[in-house]
Amino acid sequence: MPAFYDAIPTDFLESGESTTVNVDGFPIAIANASGVYCAFQNMCPHQATPLGGRPVVDGVITCSQHASKYDVRTGECVKPADGDGFSQGLMTFEVEVVDEVVRVKV
Ligand code: FES
Repeated sequence: MPAFYDAIPTDFLESGESTTVNVDGFPIAIANASGVYCAFQNMCPHQATPLGGRPVVDGVITCSQHASKYDVRTGECVKPADGDGFSQGLMTFEVEVVDEVVRVKV
């Protein structure tokens, strides 16, 4: 049964930053997209490059390997991978903020 777990304090991420947190044993990437906290799979669906820690610009994170771009708010792939055009989106997770703590539902 999915449940919310504490992940990070809200002041851990500035706007435009992301990180990776283990939430109930799962590596989840969390981003601050202009004050909106978003949670999504840490591994790029193309070839499993970690995404957490990459900058977020206008809600979009770019994979370091083949430049896929993902909207962290929806998980949508907004620019396919260089080379083979892979365009699968990211799995996202529900987020809530309670008492200045970002909580993720897994
Ligand atoms: S591993 Fe992320 S775009 Fe290829």
